[in-house]
Amino acid sequence: MYRECSILENVVVNQLHLNNRAVVAPMTRVSTRGDGVPTEQMEKYYRRYAEGGFGLTITEGVYTDRTFAQAYPNQPGMTNAQQQKGWEAIVRATHKAGGKIILQLMHAGALSQHLSHTRSASSIQPLRGMLAGYSKKQGRFPAPQAMNLAEIDDAIKGFVDSAIRAEKAGFDGVEIHAANGYLLDQFLTDYTNDREDQYGGSVKNRCRLSAEVTAAIKSSVASHFIVGVRVSQGKVNDFDYLWPNGLNDGEVIFDSLKNAGADYIHFASEGKGFDHGCLTRAGESLPKLARDLTGLPVIANGGLDNPAEANRILTGSHADLVALGTGALANPDWPARLKANDDIAAFNPAMFTFGVTVEDQFTWEEEAGLVRL
Ligand SMILES: Cc1cc2nc3c(=O)[nH]c(=O)nc-3n(C[C@H](O)[C@H](O)[C@H](O)COP(=O)(O)O)c2cc1C
Repeated sequence: MYRECSILENVVVNQLHLNNRAVVAPMTRVSTRGDGVPTEQMEKYYRRYAEGGFGLTITEGVYTDRTFAQAYPNQPGMTNAQQQKGWEAIVRATHKAGGKIILQLMHAGALSQHLSHTRSASSIQPLRGMLAGYSKKQGRFPAPQAMNLAEIDDAIKGFVDSAIRAEKAGFDGVEIHAANGYLLDQFLTDYTNDREDQYGGSVKNRCRLSAEVTAAIKSSVASHFIVGVRVSQGKVNDFDYLWPNGLNDGEVIFDSLKNAGADYIHFASEGKGFDHGCLTRAGESLPKLARDLTGLPVIANGGLDNPAEANRILTGSHADLVALGTGALANPDWPARLKANDDIAAFNPAMFTFGVTVEDQFTWEEEAGLVRL
C-alpha cells in the first residue's frame, strides 16, 4: 500500500497505520533540566506536530546509557523510570491528538559535547569541532578510546534496555540512530574505524554493530513494535562525505539491516538537501536502492518542506515517506497547511536567536508574533 505515493495518502509501516506520509525528523533540543527527564514544555512542543497533522513524529535522539552515550548537556535520556515517565506523557499527548510517535535511540560515541572521556570504534580524533549552541564546551573533540568487546556489548544492552522502556512507555516504535556521524556511523565510516576485528575492515563488518543492535532490539520487543534505522552519508562534522563505493556500499548496508529485522530505513541528508546527501557520486539514489532492494518502507529527508519537492521524491519512487526537520520547525502544522492549500513558511534561522531549546523557540515565536496551534 505504501507504494502508491502522495504526501497526504495513508501508509502502513509494519502494522502501524499512519494518516499520511509526513514525518517529523528527529531534532535534538537539549531542553531537559539536566536530569534527562522530558518536561511539560517538551510535551507541548511534540503535541503541536500531531495536532498539525503529521502522521508520524520521530523524537530527538535520546541517550541510551549513562556511561558513554550522552551527546549533550540537557539531552533527554531513556535510562531510568523518571525519564520513561516523562516520555509517557508525550506519547499520550501525541496519541490523543491522532499522531504516532517513535523514539530515536542515540549513542554519541566520539561526538559527545558532554563527557570528558569518550568511546568509539577506534581512537581517531573526530574531524572539525563541536556544535555551537549545544554546550558550553566548544572546540575540537578529544580522541576517543577504542571500545573493547565488553564495551560494545554494554552499548548494545543500552540500546535494548531503552527500546524496552520505549515499548513500556507506549511508543509506536524506536529508530536506531546510525546516521550523522554518531557512534554507529563511526563504526560504519571507513575513516573513523581502523579496527582489525569483526567490527572493522569490510563494509559488512563496519555495519555489523548497527545490525547487531537492530537484531537485539527486534528479539526483545513485540513483533508489531517498529524498529527503524536511520543512516546517512554526511555527518554533523562532515556534511560532504559520500559512501566511497556508492551503490555497492548501499547494497551491503541495506541488506544487513533488512536481515537484522529492520522495519524501515530512514535516509537522512542534513544541511544541503536531498540531492546532496542521498545520491551517490554518480548521481544514483540510495533511498531508491534501499526501497528496491529490501522492499521495506523508506523515509527520505533533506530540504523536503517544499511540497513539490516532497512529491517528486514520493512519485519518483525514491521513498514512501518524507521527514522534515527545519521545515517542521517553521511549520508544525505542515500537513494541515497542505490540506488547506496554505502557504508554507520558510525556516528562519533567527528562530535560534535565544538558543536551541524548545523554550528559546517559544520565546522567539512569541516575540515574532507568530500564531501557533
Ligand atoms: C535543531 C536540529 C536538531 C537535530 N537533531 C537531530 C537528532 O537528534 N537526530 C537526528 O538523526 N538528526 C537530527 N537533526 C537532523 C534532522 O533530523 C534532519 O536530518 C536535518 O534537519 C535535515 O532535514 P531538513 O532539511 O528537513 O531540515 C537535527 C536537525 C536540527 C535542525
